[in-house]
Amino acid sequence: MTQRYQWPALTVGTCYYPEHWPEELWPDDLRRMLDSGITVIRVGEFAWSKFELHEGEFTFDFFDRFLDLCARIGMKVIFGTPTATPPAWLTEKYPEILNGTLDGVLYRHGGRKHYNYNAPIYQQLCARIVEQLARHYGHHPAIVGWQIDNEINCETCDFYSEADSAAFREFLREKYGTLDALNDAWGTVFWNQTYTDWAQIYVPRPTATHAVNPHLLLDYSRFVSDSAIRFCRIQADILRQHIAPGVYITTNGLFANLDNHRFEDECLDVMTYDSYPSFAFELDHPWNPGAMNDRGWSRMLAEVRSVCPHFGIMEQQSGANGWYNRMEGPAPRPGQLTLWAMQSVAHGADYVSFFRWRTCTVGTEIYWHGILDYDNRDNRRLQEVRAFADTLQRLKGVCGADSAARVALVKDYDNEWDARHDRWHQRVQQKSEAGVFEGAQRTHTPYDVVYLREITVLDELRRYDVLIYPHATILTPDRAALLTRYVEAGGTLMIGCRTGYKDEHGRCVMQPQPGLLRALAGANVRDFTFHSPAEEPPYALLDGERLETPLFNDVLEAESAMVLARYAAGYYAGEPALTENRVGKGRVLYLGAAFCPESTAQLLRRVKAAEPYGQLLRLPETVELTARRKDGRLYLFLLNYQPVPAECRIHAPAQALVRQETVQGAFTLPPYGVEVLTMEDSL
Ligand code: GAL
Repeated sequence: MTQRYQWPALTVGTCYYPEHWPEELWPDDLRRMLDSGITVIRVGEFAWSKFELHEGEFTFDFFDRFLDLCARIGMKVIFGTPTATPPAWLTEKYPEILNGTLDGVLYRHGGRKHYNYNAPIYQQLCARIVEQLARHYGHHPAIVGWQIDNEINCETCDFYSEADSAAFREFLREKYGTLDALNDAWGTVFWNQTYTDWAQIYVPRPTATHAVNPHLLLDYSRFVSDSAIRFCRIQADILRQHIAPGVYITTNGLFANLDNHRFEDECLDVMTYDSYPSFAFELDHPWNPGAMNDRGWSRMLAEVRSVCPHFGIMEQQSGANGWYNRMEGPAPRPGQLTLWAMQSVAHGADYVSFFRWRTCTVGTEIYWHGILDYDNRDNRRLQEVRAFADTLQRLKGVCGADSAARVALVKDYDNEWDARHDRWHQRVQQKSEAGVFEGAQRTHTPYDVVYLREITVLDELRRYDVLIYPHATILTPDRAALLTRYVEAGGTLMIGCRTGYKDEHGRCVMQPQPGLLRALAGANVRDFTFHSPAEEPPYALLDGERLETPLFNDVLEAESAMVLARYAAGYYAGEPALTENRVGKGRVLYLGAAFCPESTAQLLRRVKAAEPYGQLLRLPETVELTARRKDGRLYLFLLNYQPVPAECRIHAPAQALVRQETVQGAFTLPPYGVEVLTMEDSL
């Protein structure tokens, strides 16, 4: 990951759409924003027709007026390239730019993100509008950054147009060189799928089995990612030629079928994310005080941090959400807007921009509430934004601070994409990622996410005492070698069931599992089974305590490893469920199951990685703890997601930056309350 830009100070922004409002409102809006501590706005990302209402005729007067006003008033601007919403003339004249469904039905004008990345004419027209904008506004004094498009791979991350099939063939030709190599990698011998001409190959299409060759699907995900990055790269390269030095390039969101790390390396200076924690509530279910709910959103933020350690939030939820036809969510309760914004800062955001200044009165998002309501009066949400901006002034030292986590969840894109299509893999992956997150949360163990990439080096892993790589069904020799070096150097690696049974093409290997990690784990798999939902889930016993072994069980056979736990139920009762192998200065724990919150907590305690700040703080399980560190200081964020106060205890005096006093002994977090404690970083 290459973060080329960092915010010099914690900064508050909002998203503004000058084209949605009468011009008379602009000056008042901008002044009220500045009065509320908002110093940056993002504009323009859906406004193509304001610049090119008719093909090839460019006008800039509308945004000239707006940006000049911003410069006069002192508002800074992130300018969005408008390619997420091609104009009506464009899609009408060039329907080949449209994306469509698997069945070949085209997505028409009327929504957004209806284009595909590969139509040459769309690439040309996007390049042209971006070049026009970059030449015209590249040195505008109000502009501090550029956003490429909007939310790459949002709405859909699947592409089925003719242009995509043509580009897929090129991608595959480059990757495999010959059809023989492709036929071999895809196992086309099965069901007589052998290709004899590149023209016979398509992106996924409907089939009688409702299933497509799984090896093709894996390459298709890689292809979509590559297409998205190449599409954005065209814009990034143009912007770089024309924009002023010091002005950054970013974009927002984190979506599927996209290698976000490569995306940042090739196209962006810094990444931003759109944080809507109320998506994490299960709206159809009654409020469950024990569930993660909005706290669960921290999982996404940890993912963002893995791409870009000091990221920004381009869209921070500030009101109730809802399109006119779906996605209803309640208004944030008093305090919750601040809680969610601080959740972002706690996880690494140095820029927080609220979506949006005022709720739109027209269009699909009339219920996606901004800070202000349609009536434009000051309200409690604006007060919270103002107070949040004031609080950030007191957290100055946090800007640019790193995560202090010593435990990481390990992922890689091959397995991410394999799990999109492979149901066996998907179920254990989803269960374990949620389980590891929740187990770490409940034991107040800050955790990061680390992606293994071709360029990952040992030092990136050695920052962590413990790595949990739950289900690397696809293993490559490079990743196995890197993990071996990590363990030899003293790390603790935890792996789960289904490790190591596929190669990079998703073909199953004819070796005992865990394949390439067998020697490191010192164990192999003798038998395995998925659990039928009708069965009582088996469990194991670890030091006399129940160890949950949900969803899928590998029945292990220890080689050089010790057996730590044995199954206590099922037809394999008495067989090994958890082993530990000591290698070099480190060890591998091999759990023959998916990870759940309980087993994660148990294992983290066992390896002494749980509760790293337990000596200092006693917190209720319902409070989230994150830790950032910089210049010899530690910043501990405490976040109370509950509508009731949380009683905490601190054993040594610490400065509390939100309430601005020194705390020691018992102290209370108010409902939805947040505190940031700072102290010398002695751990
Ligand atoms: C984001 C998007 C915004 C707006 C918001 C509310 O995904 O970037 O443009 O649509 O959601 O739906």
